[in-house]
Amino acid sequence: MINDDSHIYVIFGASGDLTKRKLVPALYSLYVQDLLPEKFALLGVSRSDFTDMDFRSGMKKAINAFKEIDDTSHIDSFIQKIHYQSIQFNDASTYHPLRQRMEILRTDEEICGNTLFYLSTPPSLYGIIPQHLASVGLNSQEDGWKRLIIEKPFGYDLESAMILKNQLLKDWQEEQLFRIDHYLGKETVQNLLVTRFSNGIFEPLWNRNYIHHVEITSAESIGVEKRGGYYDTSGALRDMVQNHLLQVAAITAMESPSSLEPVAIRNEILKVFQSLRPIKKEDVKTNTIRGQYLASTIKSETIAGYRQEEGVDPKSVTETYAAIKFYIDNWRWGGVPFYIRTGKRLPTRVTEVVIHFKPTPHFLFTSGSLSSSCNQLVIRIQPDEGMLMKFGMKTPGAGFDVQNVNMDFHYSDLTHQRIPSAYERLIYDSMKGDSTLFARTEEVIEAWKFLSPVIECWKDEKDVPLYGYPAGTWGPETADDLIEDKSITWRYPCKNLSDDGIYCEL
Ligand code: BG6
Repeated sequence: MINDDSHIYVIFGASGDLTKRKLVPALYSLYVQDLLPEKFALLGVSRSDFTDMDFRSGMKKAINAFKEIDDTSHIDSFIQKIHYQSIQFNDASTYHPLRQRMEILRTDEEICGNTLFYLSTPPSLYGIIPQHLASVGLNSQEDGWKRLIIEKPFGYDLESAMILKNQLLKDWQEEQLFRIDHYLGKETVQNLLVTRFSNGIFEPLWNRNYIHHVEITSAESIGVEKRGGYYDTSGALRDMVQNHLLQVAAITAMESPSSLEPVAIRNEILKVFQSLRPIKKEDVKTNTIRGQYLASTIKSETIAGYRQEEGVDPKSVTETYAAIKFYIDNWRWGGVPFYIRTGKRLPTRVTEVVIHFKPTPHFLFTSGSLSSSCNQLVIRIQPDEGMLMKFGMKTPGAGFDVQNVNMDFHYSDLTHQRIPSAYERLIYDSMKGDSTLFARTEEVIEAWKFLSPVIECWKDEKDVPLYGYPAGTWGPETADDLIEDKSITWRYPCKNLSDDGIYCEL
């Protein structure tokens, strides 16, 4: 292998939204911070018939619109590194000119054979493009590394994921595959690892003896926007639970890895996936809730229901809300319920993990507003990134009234630190060949296996209801029934980490 970090970054699907909004702005941020190799070229590939100049000017606008870093003084020099090649993805013969174009670039820019191929295309092409690349030798690592970054979704269900896995592994090695799950690139998701494994105080409590249940929420206030066509074939379970939220759950639940080596971390994550208790078909009705948003009026604005959205079947039964209860059958977590919920058109955008600790065995202070202690550790992934601990404190004055108070840390207090975007982090890691924050094939397959009964039942069974919920509410009311203890509801988080309850600012 050539010891040289120069490379060509090839983006398939270069005329798409992800390239404009995330990938190129993230590459620009890396460039400004001097984190790109000196010899570097970005080659956009898609069906559109652009010249280099057209593509550069589109990317310049995109960087200005979606930049993640304030400094715009390097845009002109950065876009000189951008090139474009049009291709018919399904047509094997167009991969020869692509290869030739890359060879010319390598000679002109003095770049070795290292190449990253980023697949940001419709998922139906994830099997075909790598196969065509291999047919012209672009998977060969003789002249430098070749890596393939694959966006989600990796398959549509267990069967299609297995087919895709076999297609890819025919021509590529597992070490060459980087399956992106942008949640793993979030600084605050990585901080979960640091919180757990750099602080001695949490580990003794992080188990079934002290934790009552774990709650993971990822709420969005937006609807499906312009992605109705894609979303209607996906739904919340495939779009958010199968990947992002199960990964967050795995990091919350994993054992300490033996080192920070990618293999060590990913082995521990995989073990969590392998320990997920299978949901029996007959339990799907009681352990899952699905919902779909209905039209409503929010702050005098009329909001369309899901079935009225562009690209959505007016009779669609696709869920825009999913909640699921499950268990991890191992010594640490035996008997502790995990609750995950996600939805579109909920009151606010928030992602967080809440560790609910068990109450004290006997609660002495019965005169105040609290009838038991309810310590919670809230790990806020976004927005108002940070952590909050809730604990009981004496209300000043006579007697022993106890109230719940917050102790919080907000990333925004570290004013001098910019939080890099998830894509910036993941793109950088892929350039360095660090696969720690990428999902391994087995993890993805295990996640599909786990959700298969739910997918099957939601597809077939008419008696697993699809509840409507008005846009701007917290999903089907019945979701509270999922929580085993009837005195406990989901947390109702607000934009600000320290607020919760119904009166907070959304
Ligand atoms: C994407 C989903 O993977 O994640 C979208 O396809 C969703 O539907 C998005 O909106 C949420 O990401 P984030 O980073 O805004 O929480």
